[in-house]
Amino acid sequence: MTSPLSEIIKKRIATDGAITVADYMSMALGHPEHGYYMGRDPFGADGDFITAPEISQMFGELLGLWTAVVWGQMGQPPSIRLVEIGPGRGTLMSDMLRAAAAVPPFHAAIDVHLVETSPTLRRKQKETLGRSDIEASWYDTPDDIPDGPLIVIANEFFDALPVRQFVKQPDGWHERMVGLGPEGALEFGLSVETGTGEAMVSPTLSMAPDGAVAEVCPIGSAIAKALAERVTRFGGAALVIDYGHEETAAGETLQAVRDHQYHPVLEAPGEADLTTHVDFEALAQSVRQAGARADGPVTQGTLLSRLGIEARAEALMNGATAEQAEDIRAAMARLTDDDQMGTLFKAMAIVHPRQPAAPGFE
Ligand SMILES: C[S@@+](CC[C@H](N)C(=O)[O-])C[C@H]1O[C@@H](n2cnc3c(N)ncnc32)[C@H](O)[C@@H]1O
Repeated sequence: MTSPLSEIIKKRIATDGAITVADYMSMALGHPEHGYYMGRDPFGADGDFITAPEISQMFGELLGLWTAVVWGQMGQPPSIRLVEIGPGRGTLMSDMLRAAAAVPPFHAAIDVHLVETSPTLRRKQKETLGRSDIEASWYDTPDDIPDGPLIVIANEFFDALPVRQFVKQPDGWHERMVGLGPEGALEFGLSVETGTGEAMVSPTLSMAPDGAVAEVCPIGSAIAKALAERVTRFGGAALVIDYGHEETAAGETLQAVRDHQYHPVLEAPGEADLTTHVDFEALAQSVRQAGARADGPVTQGTLLSRLGIEARAEALMNGATAEQAEDIRAAMARLTDDDQMGTLFKAMAIVHPRQPAAPGFE
């Protein structure tokens, strides 16, 4: 199987040589014409995957209340930037704003800022948020968000950022590259050089056995640092929710998903979603370097249960039909059970060093 982007990537490799896994991911996800996110809405049963806000309104409502409490902890600034990075269909922001309306002074203080690279999803977000009376602005990168106190939400954003992979060999870490095989197909290989991996891979992995794979996400670390710098300078917090691991560990987590099934990573780039598990320890280190506090991570199950998902589910079940009540129960289980999203997904809060622990992180 091939794709238009596959041919573009092969041509680039034939001209310039093998590319890093991060370059491959960047093109597969973000190529302006054929990148996975650029021209499609991948969510839901008819799409490739489903995310927490698309499973249940409870997710966004609880995060909306989280933002309201954080605003209170900040001393109720009269103007607050409510930022979402990677807003998908806009469902999460829409549910958060509805919940925030329960706290009128907070709702009145909000202006909405969305960081989104996909024109198709921007259109979808405008449509979803068109029903709200709050003005929203869109940006290509978090750096473009205007200065000022801010509360940021990033759900399943960091897993979509390009990683570099290094493979341990007897003489050191060698970067994994994407090149062309004898038949001209895209193929993984290893760079002959060492040195880059030694500088980039966490020293905690120096004793990893030969063959071990280390994933490093320089863009993710840079974004976490930039958010932490803003929080430290202007006040506020950021909530990062994603699948991943609490501590830096060796292991290959790069995966492609298409139509709710795993898919070979190098087959048909641009047609399947590519993600990796988020290294929360690496993010936390970048946050601390910038002078902010990294609280957690706690599991998604713990966070949602501390924020009151059981009570919210019960409230929604009041007046629901038996079938609706069953759907609400199933959605809560999907979001919080250990064998579903409850444990694999984790939440980390980036907070101003003088602010108390954010709700769910006490
Ligand atoms: C898996 S979706 C998550 C959507 C949403 N947060 C949710 O939970 O449903 C990833 C989102 O991040 C956006 N995205 C991916 N890479 C991005 C980047 N480098 N900069 C900004 N947005 C990006 C995608 O277009 C999409 O909106």
